[in-house]
Amino acid sequence: MKTLDLISRITVYEDHSELPIEWQDLLDKAHEAAKKAYSPYSNFKVGAALLLNNGEIITGNNQENAAYPSGLCAERTAIFYASAQFPEVPFNKLAITAINPKEKLTKPVSPCGSCRQALLEYEQKFKQRIEVLLAGEEGEIYVLKSISDLLPFSFSND
Ligand code: THU
Repeated sequence: MKTLDLISRITVYEDHSELPIEWQDLLDKAHEAAKKAYSPYSNFKVGAALLLNNGEIITGNNQENAAYPSGLCAERTAIFYASAQFPEVPFNKLAITAINPKEKLTKPVSPCGSCRQALLEYEQKFKQRIEVLLAGEEGEIYVLKSISDLLPFSFSND
């Protein structure tokens, strides 16, 4: 018998101003996308911004529906759109943030399990890590080196 550790490393930035400039820009774009979310049921606005290897930035936000499960999270809206428009271009960075009009978010938001699985698919497709930034509206910001750090020991095509 033995035990195995699953370890994920997170870089913690104190706030927006401490981030490298490229991350600041991507986070700003995710924040702008969050403002445009269609979330009349939860009133929770999530924004995602993806940086592609060709320099394109694709954003997405959550889209809700009166039949609740028919909606889609911001992360999948962004990555599916990016893959639909640029099927052969890998992604290298993803910023995720949210706006909660009821109470300011002081902690980073983190993608749901379905989004983690969907994002991982493209990391494996392109054999290239996607760095992920997670932010709230204020406070610390987390950066992880790979989607697989968010979903260790995952189901995959291998
Ligand atoms: N949501 C996202 O957009 N991304 C996630 O990773 C988790 C949740 C959305 C779905 C729903 O519109 C709202 O947040 C509240 O759950």
